Amino acid sequence: MCGIVAYIGDKEAYPIIIEGLRRLEYRGYDSSGVSILNGDIHTVKKKGKVQALVDAAEGVNLEGTIGIGHTRWATHGKPDDINAHPHNSGNKRLSLIHNGIIENYSTLKKALIELGHVFHSETDTEVLIHLIEEYQTRNNCDLEEAVRLALKKVVGAYAIVVIDSQDPNTIVGARKSSPLVLGIGENEYFLASDASPIIKYTNKVVYLNDEEIVKISRNGSFTIKTIGNELVKSPTIKELDLKLEELEKDGYDHFMLKEIFQQPTTIAESMRGRINADEGWIQLNGLERYMKRFMNAKRITLVACGTSWHSALIAEYLFEELARIPTDVEYASEFRYRKPIVYSDDIVIALSQSGETADTLAALELAKEKGALTYGIVNVVGSSIARITDSGSYIHAGPEIGVASTKAFTSQLVVLTLMALRLGQEKGNISEGEFRELLQAMEDLPRRVEKILELNDKIKFIASEIQESNHALYLGRGLNFPIALEGALKLKEISYVHAEGYPAAEMKHGPIALIDENMPVIVIATNLSAREKIVSNIQEVKARKGIVIAIVKEGDDIINEMADYTIEIPGTMETLTPLLSVIPLQLLSYHIAVMRECNVDQPRNLAKSVTVE
Ligand code: M6R
Repeated sequence: MCGIVAYIGDKEAYPIIIEGLRRLEYRGYDSSGVSILNGDIHTVKKKGKVQALVDAAEGVNLEGTIGIGHTRWATHGKPDDINAHPHNSGNKRLSLIHNGIIENYSTLKKALIELGHVFHSETDTEVLIHLIEEYQTRNNCDLEEAVRLALKKVVGAYAIVVIDSQDPNTIVGARKSSPLVLGIGENEYFLASDASPIIKYTNKVVYLNDEEIVKISRNGSFTIKTIGNELVKSPTIKELDLKLEELEKDGYDHFMLKEIFQQPTTIAESMRGRINADEGWIQLNGLERYMKRFMNAKRITLVACGTSWHSALIAEYLFEELARIPTDVEYASEFRYRKPIVYSDDIVIALSQSGETADTLAALELAKEKGALTYGIVNVVGSSIARITDSGSYIHAGPEIGVASTKAFTSQLVVLTLMALRLGQEKGNISEGEFRELLQAMEDLPRRVEKILELNDKIKFIASEIQESNHALYLGRGLNFPIALEGALKLKEISYVHAEGYPAAEMKHGPIALIDENMPVIVIATNLSAREKIVSNIQEVKARKGIVIAIVKEGDDIINEMADYTIEIPGTMETLTPLLSVIPLQLLSYHIAVMRECNVDQPRNLAKSVTVE
């Protein structure tokens, strides 16, 4: 939530910051702003997208080689020009951008008002810049020390960057529970919420750790200290393997469509080097390292939010069926607040595309405190979850920019299936024959996904038939129940259509009352073990005049006859069906959103990475 970017070097800062903000806009897009230091601090901020800021900045002198920029997802204070960041100190000397929440802001604000500080916005952030100003003035210290002293008083989460008009050769940044990356270029430095604004200029980065403060000097050096004032000796400089093209739409109308169509490749990427069907092996390094712990674990708990939580629900089936390890799935946000029982021989697996979701991070911290082994299944390399977990596996889906998660979901499922299979093999629960058959089917998945993507026009037609409905019901059984939830979430978040996912058998316990001739019911019927039951569920919907859209296995003539529309997808082994059955649902929601003229990549009220609780 919120994107921050800062630059110091020998180039003009404003265009670099604006380009960076456009790349970070997926993190929040209700307002944005910049401050450029050139003698004084020049700040422009505007409600709306980055383009509104660019329009507002037209004609303003924003020349300068040091500056900060922000794109906001509102928490404290409505989205408007005043609440937009940057926020400046009362003496106009300092300017700050912030991602996170200062939890004790009202206490701090009261104390600062008593000291004579005047506030203009409703944000928690403005309190922070006044606090830094207070320490700087009171102690007559430099910016870094003032930031350090102020942060010692702060409770909450932050990634911040601050500039000081009296020190035009320095930028100070700090983080706690919100991401901040330092980019090291030639005679230039960058600070940003992720590497996307940086990668065009350098692939050398340092991921700041919690409670670290970085001070960058224009003379080409940087230092990192802790809030406790200890110097971090030899910070790790990483070389990123990220290409600029991966951050572009590549000719597609939307990132979401590009990401849906990338799935044959991303699914293959998440398996690459980890599976060999001919030789009959699976190897996930993070798992092998802790195999003994996994073998002795009495329980696995999966924590996640949103789409990642749906992957976890599928993993519950897989881990219990293939590995025979009792598995629980928890919303990270609920887990952390309900005093869960966690034993030191438990394994807690966190699933997260961004690796920055605040609730998931907090759930992991709790699991760590209790001594459980923590394992991260994450997409973004170097993200907080990847760094705080004991072990883990990246899903290697590449940057996912559309707010609606698509390719990360299927790549999570690939990694979870590999884990379940490997654990099942090690436990001796899977026969050699079944193991090899599943590996073969996995290696075949990209080809099958390609065939599903060829159905795009048909799916678009079906979307056009139901685009005006304001409600939809998604039904699935077994492994396809979480797919029903995921299909409903995709429709809700990008089309603003009310949709619910249900286990098909539960329909008769309530939701069936909703069905009439206006209700589209999307039935995911690709799993053969539950097929007869699903056929009955379809009959029940048809008897009440519901509109049935069925996702079926190729050649399922019986359901084809009964349903109003069918999407026939290639078969695979039952265990792998969710990886295929979700794809038509992604396309269906995409087309409905486009037809309803919704902003597909940046749906209202949402942000890609939810770094606040
Ligand atoms: O980055 P994470 O996987 O931790 O994000 C979790 C959810 O915020 C995310 O899946 C969200 O539900 C997506 N918008 C779903 O498309």
